[in-house]
Amino acid sequence: MGLKQIYHGSKEHQQMVALRLEILRKPLGLSFSPEELAIEKNDILIGAFDEEEMTGCCILTKINENNVKLRQMAVLKNMQGKGIGETIIQFAENIARDKGYITLTMNARDTALGFYEKYDYKIEGEGFLEVNIPHHMMKKNLR
Ligand SMILES: CC(C)(COP(=O)(O)OP(=O)(O)OC[C@H]1O[C@@H](n2cnc3c(N)ncnc32)[C@H](O)[C@@H]1OP(=O)(O)O)[C@@H](O)C(=O)NCCC(=O)NCCS
Repeated sequence: MGLKQIYHGSKEHQQMVALRLEILRKPLGLSFSPEELAIEKNDILIGAFDEEEMTGCCILTKINENNVKLRQMAVLKNMQGKGIGETIIQFAENIARDKGYITLTMNARDTALGFYEKYDYKIEGEGFLEVNIPHHMMKKNLR
């Protein structure tokens, strides 16, 4: 398996949008707006690949000089539970550190809190709804 940063608008970006649609949005009856995808031009896009197939992904969005946000973390359904998510989050953290960020935050689905807790993310504040499902903000100091 290989991990790499991918370019906005590339073939890999199309694969990523398809994966996110399948894993994160369709089960909730949702899709992506063109505006939502266009604004990702400013983000760091990360994909995990098995040969040509994208098996997982995530996005890093700059919040400010010190803080970056992890979004859209997803692994193909039939590939979950095989360590791909762990590899992706470690790769994303290394990129964030290299770019000088101090903290990584995210709005985590409550169903994934246990996954992020394994990698030292801590819940901050009360729960809230996003895309109509329960979430908590989580945070990790990268230093
Ligand atoms: C959550 C997700 C990204 C994790 O990726 P994954 O490749 O399945 O996870 P890994 O196989 O790397 O698991 C690493 C560890 O976390 C655990 N884990 C994985 N998913 C978990 C979850 N939802 N809750 C609690 N623990 C979890 C695994 O059991 C494993 O533990 P171990 O090291 O003790 O064996 C993936 O399951 C997924 O895409 N889920 C659906 C979409 C989603 O919820 N995305 C996150 C939105 S915030």
